[in-house]
Amino acid sequence: MCGIIGYVGKQKAAPFILEGLKRLEYRGYDSTGVAILQNGAFSIVKKIGRVANLEKEVAKAPLNGTFGMGHTRWATHGGVTDANAHPHLSSDGKIVLIHNGVIENYGSMKKFLLTKGYTFESETDTEVLCNLIAYHYAKEADSAEENRCLAAVRKALLHAEGTYGIVAMSVDLPGEMVAARKGSPLILGLGDGENIVASDVSAIVARTQSVVYLKDGEIVHLTPKEFRITTLDQESVAPFVDQVTWSVADAEMGTYAHFMEKEIFEQPIALENAMRGRFSEDGSTANFGGLNISAGEFRGIERFTFCACGTALHACMVTEHMIERFARIPVECDYASEFRYRNSPLFRNTLFFVMSQSGETIDTLAALREAKRKGYKVLAVTNVVGSTVAREADGGIYQHVGPEIGVASTKAFTSQLLIGAMLALYIGRMRDLSFSDGVDYVRALKGAPDLVRRALEQAPHIQAIARRYARYADMLFLGRLSLFPIALEGALKLKEISYIHAEGYPAAEMKHGPIALISADCPSVFFAPSGEILNKIISSMQEIKARQGRIIAIITERVELPAGLADEIIVIPECHEAVLPIVASIPVQLLSYYIAVERGCDVDKPRNLAKSVTVE
Ligand code: G6P
Repeated sequence: MCGIIGYVGKQKAAPFILEGLKRLEYRGYDSTGVAILQNGAFSIVKKIGRVANLEKEVAKAPLNGTFGMGHTRWATHGGVTDANAHPHLSSDGKIVLIHNGVIENYGSMKKFLLTKGYTFESETDTEVLCNLIAYHYAKEADSAEENRCLAAVRKALLHAEGTYGIVAMSVDLPGEMVAARKGSPLILGLGDGENIVASDVSAIVARTQSVVYLKDGEIVHLTPKEFRITTLDQESVAPFVDQVTWSVADAEMGTYAHFMEKEIFEQPIALENAMRGRFSEDGSTANFGGLNISAGEFRGIERFTFCACGTALHACMVTEHMIERFARIPVECDYASEFRYRNSPLFRNTLFFVMSQSGETIDTLAALREAKRKGYKVLAVTNVVGSTVAREADGGIYQHVGPEIGVASTKAFTSQLLIGAMLALYIGRMRDLSFSDGVDYVRALKGAPDLVRRALEQAPHIQAIARRYARYADMLFLGRLSLFPIALEGALKLKEISYIHAEGYPAAEMKHGPIALISADCPSVFFAPSGEILNKIISSMQEIKARQGRIIAIITERVELPAGLADEIIVIPECHEAVLPIVASIPVQLLSYYIAVERGCDVDKPRNLAKSVTVE
């Protein structure tokens, strides 16, 4: 949610910042802007729309300075206008600021600043914070503090309520930059004679692999050659320099038309990476290095609670099914945004899990903090190394699938399903799952990448189906047991990227309401794998057919449907129960992708959405 990047170095800042903004664009893309310090003044260019618009504007007047910052916005306070786009300049022209987050008490700050003669051109909370920094900066004129801008930012932030990741520069201090975070991610990239600050690693890897993850409450002063981190209370912080394992190619589209397409087809490799080194030597269970909880403690767990948002919550729901089925322990799944306010009773001996691709979703973080506050141990499944969720959890499991750039989650989702299934195995093997069942289970999980490869071979067939269904306004996704959450996910994917209204339902529950929607204008996507309840699923299909509903059936190889029941059939490989949700996800990802492309939608940047939602 909002991408920010700052650069102090020896090379021209603008091209690097624009390149970085393109990589950060998935975080928000309603407007963008850049500020470069050159010839003793800030040159600021801001534009609504995408980075490409900004690039055209920047090309009109060359920006040659080597210090600057850029921002790509997901609007919170104030509409999408050029004036509301960042960077913001204080009304005295001294301070320029970019911000990700929400300053909740900006109203009272603004009243105060108006009495001091500051003026405002936008409706944003950011411009208010910018002027508050300028106010303190002016007061610091005679201060003996080492750095005036740093002191001014620190003083302003002591009054700020809410969340922020910010980068500030003063017109008087070329080559110096100040950044701080509370609740919104910020990463330092340490280069050769240049330093970078950005919302995430993807904007940095083109220049350096050496990064420092800033923590909440930290503030950093950067020059091209140095950086110094302190807390808001001026305590010195010893930095931990980490090495990023992602490469630039990981964050680029290559020959694909969209990141979503690339990430769908990357799934076999992503799954291999997510499972690598995580099976026991005897091949009967899973191993996780970072759980920070002993086998004995795990053995004592009597209940699990999983919290997440969006796609990650669907992964939790599949994990619930797997843990209950294979480890026979009750699991509860909750929307993180509801959990944090509901004050729901938690049982003793409950282990709390959160799942978050980005590790920055504010609702998920709040649920994690609430559970910790109540004294529970919290483990996390997350993809982004060094993310806030990863740092604040007591332990966890990294997904290791590389950067996911498409706003609609695909490879991160299936890797969460894999990790959920591995967790069920791990816990199951501590309880009643036998050695030979464990060996079968492990063999099945190891086969998942190949099964996904085979499912992906259906792409041309699914693309042809998508062409026939792209103009419908409504669609139902129906599945049972572990495929009910995949039906929810299929519906979410379709509405996120194609704006078709879609609902996911348990297939048999459909007759208790959604059946009223069925007509020739509302097709249904049915999951119909082989198994004991296939006949029940077929009955539900008959009910739809009797009402002229069209059916797209996703079946496994052994299934034979009554002739004429389904209008379209997509066949996926037969597989072990633990792997089925992973394999069944592929056709719905492809279907929604191709439908969105057919409708001419901006697949990687769907309207109104952001990849990582860091505001409530
Ligand atoms: C946003 C995105 C969803 C994503 C959800 C959770 O709403 O649009 O695609 O599933 O956040 O994200 P997380 O990073 O916590 O998995």
